[in-house]
Amino acid sequence: MIKIAVMGYGTIGSGVVQVIETNQDSICKKIGEGIEVKYVLDLRDFGDDPIQSKVVHDYQTIAADPEVAIVVESMGGVEPAYTFVKAMLLAGKSVTTSNKALVAARGAELVAVAKEKNVNFMFEASVGGGIPIIRALNSCLTADRIEEISGIVNGTTNYIMTKMAEEGCDFDEVLKEAQDKGYAEKDPTADIEGHDAGRKIAILTSLIAGQQVDFEDVHTEGISKITATDILYAKKMGRVIKLLATSREVGDTYTVMVAPFLLPKEHPLYTVNGVFNAVFVRGNMLGDAMFYGSGAGSLPTASAVVADVVELAKHIGRHIELEWRPEKLPIADYRQQSTRFFVRTGADKAAVENVFGSVEYIDVPEAAGEIGFLTTEMKEAEYEEKAGKLGSVIQMIRFH
Ligand code: HSE
Repeated sequence: MIKIAVMGYGTIGSGVVQVIETNQDSICKKIGEGIEVKYVLDLRDFGDDPIQSKVVHDYQTIAADPEVAIVVESMGGVEPAYTFVKAMLLAGKSVTTSNKALVAARGAELVAVAKEKNVNFMFEASVGGGIPIIRALNSCLTADRIEEISGIVNGTTNYIMTKMAEEGCDFDEVLKEAQDKGYAEKDPTADIEGHDAGRKIAILTSLIAGQQVDFEDVHTEGISKITATDILYAKKMGRVIKLLATSREVGDTYTVMVAPFLLPKEHPLYTVNGVFNAVFVRGNMLGDAMFYGSGAGSLPTASAVVADVVELAKHIGRHIELEWRPEKLPIADYRQQSTRFFVRTGADKAAVENVFGSVEYIDVPEAAGEIGFLTTEMKEAEYEEKAGKLGSVIQMIRFH
């Protein structure tokens, strides 16, 4: 019988217990033996709920129990999760976490501790919720050099962008509706300003590069300045605006950024709508692949956590090699990346052509008193210089 502990009985922790209870038989067959949740660590008590019989308040109780082989961390935040997880690894227990803040900040170190103690540290649910993207990168796409990863990895912002595109509403209106329905947090900053997506692409890029990418180095722009007028222009161009987290190989490093992009109909991410997530991967042998599914929510996220539990149970006593060196990868300056830029300006056509040369104008009759145009392909640095010269830039959105 494999005994496990769950640290944090919130949305995901309670989902983990539910997944194990609901699918007990098939999970046990996959592991080859029984599985039991022995402890639930939480600050709270749960009254008459049957889970109360498993509740402990001190993580040391779990660390000190030799019967517990696997620990789930679903508390969120870097501390005290880091202290608790490290203590479990040092006590010879394998750990799986859904906590992207912990993985982005301390993942490389915790992988090294797991290696030293001949156990495993897994984190499938930290990016893309229920979508198996981490295991795909670590186990399935190992024959390839990954040239690009671009993902819609934040459900809140994808819900907002989808609603804006479908209903032509402004950002504030859709955000309020999303908050009322519980799709967006009361304080939505981490989602709408791209910080959540930045942590996720830092984790994905660390895995494809094999060394630490700090999320603080990721150039991040959110969606809070996207307007209903931008949506009209996007429609005119046959495109859709999506918040993408994207990494592209440049020499022996990557450019990494989070920003709204204009995607064409042909792109596999074009049709990813609502709260769904998807990650597009381009390998130098594989070509293009895409992983799609529920990026958040109790049961989809718990499904990925329990899949890790199954994997950990199958590998008790054996560390699975994972390259994630702690030395920081110097990422390439995103200003050296080239693309086409869609720009809205209050300047006139003569000024636009004087600065940008030949451009393609996008005519949207509803947008009176301004000009929308599309540049030729150029580096970010060149765009920034020209936009500075032009002045009166109302909006800029990149092509992808
Ligand atoms: N706030 C995140 C989202 C939750 O909206 O996708 C999952 O990480």
